[in-house]
Amino acid sequence: MAFVCLAVFLVPVSGLLPPDHDPYPIDISDPDPPIKNLRMEPERKRLTWDLHGNVSEIMCFINSKAFTKARKKTYCSIPDLSCQATNYSIKVTKGQPFSTWIQYPSQEGNPRAAAENLTCWVHDVDFLTCSWAVGREAPRDVQYHLYLENLDSYEKWPCSQYRADEQGTNVQCRFHNISVFSKDLTRFLVNGTGSGSKIPCSETTDRLAKIEVLAAPNITSRWCNQSYSFMQWQVRSHLNDDFKYELQIQKGTELAYKQEIYKAFLELNNPGTYTVQVRARDATFSHYKPWGPWSVPQHFVCEEGARLPVWLTSLLIALGTLLAMGLVLRFCRFSVMQKLFPPIPHMKDHINGKLQNGRTMTWDPDQDSQEECPVAEVQVLGET
Ligand SMILES: *[C@@H]1O[C@H](CO)[C@@H](O)[C@H](O)[C@H]1NC(C)=O
Ligand SMILES: *[C@@H]1O[C@H](CO)[C@@H](O)[C@H](O)[C@H]1NC(C)=O
Ligand SMILES: *[C@@H]1O[C@H](CO)[C@@H](O)[C@H](O)[C@H]1NC(C)=O
Ligand SMILES: *[C@@H]1O[C@H](CO)[C@@H](O)[C@H](O)[C@H]1NC(C)=O
Ligand SMILES: *[C@@H]1O[C@H](CO)[C@@H](O)[C@H](O)[C@H]1NC(C)=O
Ligand SMILES: *[C@@H]1O[C@H](CO)[C@@H](O)[C@H](O)[C@H]1NC(C)=O
Ligand SMILES: *[C@@H]1O[C@H](CO)[C@@H](O)[C@H](O)[C@H]1NC(C)=O
Repeated sequence: MAFVCLAVFLVPVSGLLPPDHDPYPIDISDPDPPIKNLRMEPERKRLTWDLHGNVSEIMCFINSKAFTKARKKTYCSIPDLSCQATNYSIKVTKGQPFSTWIQYPSQEGNPRAAAENLTCWVHDVDFLTCSWAVGREAPRDVQYHLYLENLDSYEKWPCSQYRADEQGTNVQCRFHNISVFSKDLTRFLVNGTGSGSKIPCSETTDRLAKIEVLAAPNITSRWCNQSYSFMQWQVRSHLNDDFKYELQIQKGTELAYKQEIYKAFLELNNPGTYTVQVRARDATFSHYKPWGPWSVPQHFVCEEGARLPVWLTSLLIALGTLLAMGLVLRFCRFSVMQKLFPPIPHMKDHINGKLQNGRTMTWDPDQDSQEECPVAEVQVLGET
């Protein structure tokens, strides 16, 4: 009995796979495993091992998810090594069944002291914000730091602007200008320091384009008449250029309705009076991402009576102009006549003083705008 117990304890952990769930069960009694010394080579970003047996195909797994087939049956390239303790395993998929695993990097410190619920999003065109919660078992003096890393160039940027909670622990970071980062895969990493214990890191990896929350559309032009209305808008983004839009239209007293479109303008026939707002969503990643915020509501009044039809307005303006021109012309003609055939003051004063005075009243130079009729000035000077 003691021998059986000892035998169970001596079995390597990698051999304890439930046979009914594993398509490649392991021969627990394998005295000479075909693969030994599974290890990570962080400098070369390779998961590698020593091959001893006759195997024809090996598969590599990260946290139990198939990742890639092994190269030359001796290694798998792992381009993006996580800072968190990760389970790397390999399995012989053709040949004598076998599998084994390692954890890399090894777990240091209490995982519940690490930053929790790390999420990052791009917003308001230029900004990137990441936020996280203080680990529930973090020491009181814990401090967290965030780094952004481009996974193509491995260039890193430390956060420059943090927001801290009441204890002074950083819980949010903001970058103000995302145009300096590339659109490639980006890693967000939060590690920490605290007295006494090591604080494990937390990370998430994503494309910036995929985590963008689009800003509300800007209305760039709008107009309407009785039979037609038009509204155009714009959505700015450094990362996406393929958008779809949702409109919410509320006509008169009717119930509001929603409409999804791909063009950045709205045309309505016989629009009447209505209110519309629009919001945008990335058309490429629309399954992952929510709608952005609504634009400012736009109120349109396009009914007859509410505003004069264009033709009537034009007609009225034309009539007004004609009337004004007619008056000015009359004034000017009168003045020119007076200039050409100036009245003889003294003689006329005697003969028809009343009439002359009446006309002088009408032609008071102080009341007439000089710009309207410059000739009037000449006439006045000529009279004096
Ligand atoms: C690591 O992954 C392998 C394969 O999926 C699994 O058998 C093993 O239990 C995992 N180890 C840990 C510590 O989760
Ligand atoms: C290795 O195994 C394959 C089939 O699994 C077999 O055809 C081949 O002969 C074996 N080679 C050696 C050297 O044992
Ligand atoms: C992290 O998110 C989960 C799920 O929303 C929540 O239950 C948990 O309390 C959060 N952790 C912290 C430290 O707030
Ligand atoms: C953002 O960075 C780019 C590239 O460095 C620069 O050209 C641009 O002026 C910056 N924008 C702002 C608002 O700082
Ligand atoms: C946190 O991560 C950054 C970037 O990888 C590294 O430069 C820094 O030394 C780490 N700090 C700690 C305390 O581990
Ligand atoms: C409204 O504007 C459209 C487009 O310019 C035009 O075709 C139409 O005749 C106008 N309707 C009225 C009633 O003015
Ligand atoms: C909308 O217009 C305002 C003011 O011109 C500008 O500050 C803002 O960046 C614009 N937003 C978008 C998404 O274009």
